[in-house]
Amino acid sequence: VTASATKKRSVSRAADAPAGRFSAVILAAGRGKRMRSKTVKVLHPLAGRPMLLYPIIAAVEAGADPIAVVIGSRQQEVLRQHLKPYPVVPVVQPEPLGTGHAVLQARDALKGRAGPVLILSGDVPLIPADLIRRLFEDHTRHGGLLTFMTAQLPNPYGYGRVIRGRMGEVERIVEERDLRPEQKAISEINAGVYMVQPDFLFETLPMVGRRNAQKEYYLTDLVAAAAERKGARPFPAPDPELALGINTRAELALAERRMRDRIADRLMEEGATLLDPATTWIEAGVRIGEDTVIYPNTRLEGATEIGRDCVIRSFTTVRDARIGNGVTVKESCVITESVIEDGASAGPFAHLRPGTVLRRKARVGNFVEVKKSEIGEGSKANHLTYLGDATVGRDANIGAGTITCNYDGFAKHTTVIEDRVFVGSDTQLVAPVRVGRGAVVAAGSTVTKDVPAEALAISRPEQVNKPGWAKNRRTAQKRKAD
Ligand code: UD1
Ligand code: CA
Repeated sequence: VTASATKKRSVSRAADAPAGRFSAVILAAGRGKRMRSKTVKVLHPLAGRPMLLYPIIAAVEAGADPIAVVIGSRQQEVLRQHLKPYPVVPVVQPEPLGTGHAVLQARDALKGRAGPVLILSGDVPLIPADLIRRLFEDHTRHGGLLTFMTAQLPNPYGYGRVIRGRMGEVERIVEERDLRPEQKAISEINAGVYMVQPDFLFETLPMVGRRNAQKEYYLTDLVAAAAERKGARPFPAPDPELALGINTRAELALAERRMRDRIADRLMEEGATLLDPATTWIEAGVRIGEDTVIYPNTRLEGATEIGRDCVIRSFTTVRDARIGNGVTVKESCVITESVIEDGASAGPFAHLRPGTVLRRKARVGNFVEVKKSEIGEGSKANHLTYLGDATVGRDANIGAGTITCNYDGFAKHTTVIEDRVFVGSDTQLVAPVRVGRGAVVAAGSTVTKDVPAEALAISRPEQVNKPGWAKNRRTAQKRKAD
């Protein structure tokens, strides 16, 4: 059940993409020291997926083929796992000696390709596929050696600056740490996105030195080399925010806001109502059907899919779940790796843990926890209940305070509750146990043996009433006090 809810979504090339006419290198081998993290920078999540996946998806959609991704030796296996679903070739840069050195590692992977090479940075995640396509068209139309994306930033600190000559022509790029004081005010920056002729790229790169403040091989030195041959062309980003590079946690938070806005805009365009996009956190892989209403302060994560005409109320978190049409999830629910079918409802305060299936029109209410259990069509568990490793048939009623005792201290056992069973309140079902079709379990019972269909199970001492007992006690107390 959950496998289909969490399956990977494939990325495909847009129909109008210039398929295979350019190849790509995506740089993701840097340490990311400025993040101050044990996790490599490009694995830090942005709207729920590692930031590196955004440039990868954009390159695939734009039609780049082949695509080499340069990764470092740290966390290599984790990185490889993330790359698996995508049509990319991982290439290892054993040591992070600079962006120029990183691109060189991809030379063999791109061998024999005639078209230009797109270079993207794994830490510049907001560049969309259509902008890459326009960069390709611009580069092709003007026939230069290298076209690179630029942006005007009010605060250009940290970026490489575009140095222009007397006539306004591009001369070179100078990194922040190599800037002379009077150059620091230059607000035109290098976005780290390039389209380069392959011969020029792989002939010039080996000649790039490391005589700079960071003693690294700078890819940006290619711009000066191309400019000398009058072949360097700037390509301004239409919106400078698209060029945002992530080097620090503050920049990550900024990108997260932009990415969330973008996701919210897409979902609203597709017909979902988000009552307050600013407080609604929806990750990139989530899909929502038309006329579904999402209340403020909700989180929808992972590969969650929500159908049409649903209502998801505030303070609810849904992760990797599949929700059908016309489903209501009330306030403050936590729903993980579960399936909720059409017309069912959950909450307020329900906890649906992995492996829960609510069939059509089933209902779980306040303080109900469900784990690895199926609740049949039209069945209800409305109050204070724990259902674990259980199967509940159709139209059953699970009374308040019912508990499946699924764990004996060593292993988990299953409970089966068949169609139209009525379980009275405050019942414990000690698994493994089965309650047959249409049976009734009296309130307060501890069920340790199977219940035959249509039977009554009752397991509690019979009630004794002692007439006048309470009154007599009160009188006795009063006499003592006098
Ligand atoms: C780089 C550019 C800068 C530009 C900025 C845009 C250079 C020298 N500078 O600076 O002009 O304004 O991006 O965001 O290119 N990487 C490797 N191997 C390495 C070093 C880096 O794969 O040895 C990868 C990083 O993982 C990252 C990307 O290359 O994804 C850029 O590296 P980073 O160190 O962040 O460069 P910036 O200083 O931001
Ligand atoms: Ca960077």
